[in-house]
Amino acid sequence: MKSIELNIEKALGTVSKSDVFALQDKAANGIEMLHKGTGKGNDFLGWLHLPSEITEAHLADLEATAQQMKERCDIVVVIGIGGSYLGAKAVIEALSDTFEFLHHEHKNPIVLFAGQNIGEDYLYELQTLLKGKSFGIVVISKSGTTTEPAIAFRLLKEQLEAQVGKEEAKHRIVAITDAHKGALRKLADTEGYKTFVIADNVGGRFSVLTPVGLLPIAIAGFDIRALVAGAVAMEKACGEEVPFEQNPAAIYAATRNALYQSGKKVEILVNFNPKLHYFAEWWKQLYGESEGKDHLGIFPASVDFTTDLHSMGQWIQEGERIIFETVLSVAQMKHTVTIPSDQENLDGLNYLAGKRVDEVNKMAELGTQIAHVDGGVPNLKIVVPELTETYLGQLIYFFEKACGISGYILGVNPFNQPGVEAYKRNMFALLNKPGYEEESKAIQARI
Ligand code: PA5
Repeated sequence: MKSIELNIEKALGTVSKSDVFALQDKAANGIEMLHKGTGKGNDFLGWLHLPSEITEAHLADLEATAQQMKERCDIVVVIGIGGSYLGAKAVIEALSDTFEFLHHEHKNPIVLFAGQNIGEDYLYELQTLLKGKSFGIVVISKSGTTTEPAIAFRLLKEQLEAQVGKEEAKHRIVAITDAHKGALRKLADTEGYKTFVIADNVGGRFSVLTPVGLLPIAIAGFDIRALVAGAVAMEKACGEEVPFEQNPAAIYAATRNALYQSGKKVEILVNFNPKLHYFAEWWKQLYGESEGKDHLGIFPASVDFTTDLHSMGQWIQEGERIIFETVLSVAQMKHTVTIPSDQENLDGLNYLAGKRVDEVNKMAELGTQIAHVDGGVPNLKIVVPELTETYLGQLIYFFEKACGISGYILGVNPFNQPGVEAYKRNMFALLNKPGYEEESKAIQARI
């Protein structure tokens, strides 16, 4: 199996190789804390050996459930937010035909998402679209109590039952949640839905290789075995016993921390392939929630190039020098489009005639790298051989492992997210949720 490849050469200059290697011991310490379970947040390390521990029976159960949903539904709405949404969305977007939803014939259900916002118009328009359609629901919430997915599920469950009856609806709803706790567990058990469990020791943003990601990905028609196989390969490549200089997760973690220490406070994940837009959204949650605490942490941002070169390009080239880039470079495209020659050449493009569109894109990528490095933006590059399940599986595990190591180098607990509770407390107080009476009084005094 080929592998994704990390290249830090174009980051060296802002930091030296010895700055990166100066963090070797801290990285090794981080790896040891992950593998021995001696670091902060050690009750959330279930993701570490998840790929190699997935069983045949579990994969077969996921595939069988996906098959049943495919047979019953033309559309499957995946309801979830944060870690209960972004992994599936990232992989499905990366692998899908961009315009498949407009084709009249498609082999697999169209997967739509809900519960990732509280947009009234979004929900209205989704409900309107689903009227009279054959649809099903995968509802995902680890805690089983998150407001956004709970609202979406209440609405869509009611609609589904009205359209197909309660008994048929039961066969079109799958719940993925805690084994015992939470309102969703109670509801699923009461209604008799098929359920999958999210293990206690796997946090939301590390859960893409659990049913949280795997079931929606399988329903969309993608090969979850290849995704897991890619992750297994990367689990080995970033293993405990792999020397620092050969361990891509350790090198990435050390390099980004060396850059952070040199004043680069923002990391931009760059793609030159629009299919990777949501992969960057997944990555932002992974690094943002894991590292942004104790008033520390690299701010994770993302851009889609060349699109954003026409908007954010100016800032990146000449704005404050607090950024570095990590470029996801996809080597091989799925399709071939060649630029035609034109006799009149009124657009002046004949110098490109006969070239593939991807060749132009690759030159844009190279030209951008040179310009940004010249402009003081260090560049890390991850070459992805192709956008396939295997390489996405590799990328997912690579970024997860590097995130754990990087968080420990930084000195934070990479596996909690205490800060995300603050808005929820205020929102519940403002909405007079039972149990928030004191907070309600206090917040009224502030508005
Ligand atoms: O990473 C996390 O823990 C969060 O982003 C959660 O995934 C998100 O808040 C959704 O939580 P839940 O799955 O409990 O509904």
